[in-house]
Amino acid sequence: MLKTLWPYPKIVAHRGGGALAPENTLAAMRCGLAHGFHAVEFDVMLSRDAIPVLMHDEQFGRTVSGVGSVPTTSALELAGLDAGSWFGDAFAGEPVPSYAQVAAFCRAQAIWMNVEIKPAVGFEVATGRVTAALTRQLFAAEIATAGVASRALPLFSSFSFEALMAARAAAPEIPRGYLVDTIPADWHARLVALAAVALHTNHQNLSRKLAQQVKAAGYGLFCYTVNDPARATEILSWGVDGFCTDRIDLIGADFSLGAAVVIADK
Ligand code: G3P
Ligand code: MG
Repeated sequence: MLKTLWPYPKIVAHRGGGALAPENTLAAMRCGLAHGFHAVEFDVMLSRDAIPVLMHDEQFGRTVSGVGSVPTTSALELAGLDAGSWFGDAFAGEPVPSYAQVAAFCRAQAIWMNVEIKPAVGFEVATGRVTAALTRQLFAAEIATAGVASRALPLFSSFSFEALMAARAAAPEIPRGYLVDTIPADWHARLVALAAVALHTNHQNLSRKLAQQVKAAGYGLFCYTVNDPARATEILSWGVDGFCTDRIDLIGADFSLGAAVVIADK
């Protein structure tokens, strides 16, 4: 049996366009693409009416102005908010996009997606379930033809174990990566429970030894958010398979070749 550890691109634009565009917007996706990135990470949260939209913060105030929150606002209302002005006048009026809109854009442009399921507090299971069910619909053709370890399918990740378990139940064909700030002692058991293909972690808390343990166990290893080329080179030398970056101007999509790593299973 062959085990494909990381069939995905190695270098991924964080939140769409990294530091060069307002995060989690279609403008960010276009920016990443303009810089040669065919791989993006972005954050998905549920609106009040349970529509997955792109947003990092549950509470308004940073990327959209005013007082309020994503889980108490409808998708229609969110689509009318300005998610671009905070970044610069050139992006004024850039809306909060739905996940369906962004997924359609990425499919049309052959952009691989790391969909980070980012539930508002208390909505962990619903966010995993709804995001996964929609992804399953959107990628029905790819699910029918692609193998599970294929870059034709997106990869879910989440800091919420519960959200990923719900995603697994709703769309078992879409692979999952367990996302952690610091790798916990029970990481292997968690990956087994999720039937995950990868561990995603903060590179600042990763050591060469931990990287080797994850790789030796047969999992993909992905890091966030790597903005220094020297650090990127270092962690890749440890066996890290890929990472997302805000500095898409400094670390290009071709920083390292995105070839699949295939090893013989023992
Ligand atoms: O998915 C990697 C990274 O995006 C996780 O942290 O806070 O940037 O969503 P955050
Ligand atoms: Mg994220």
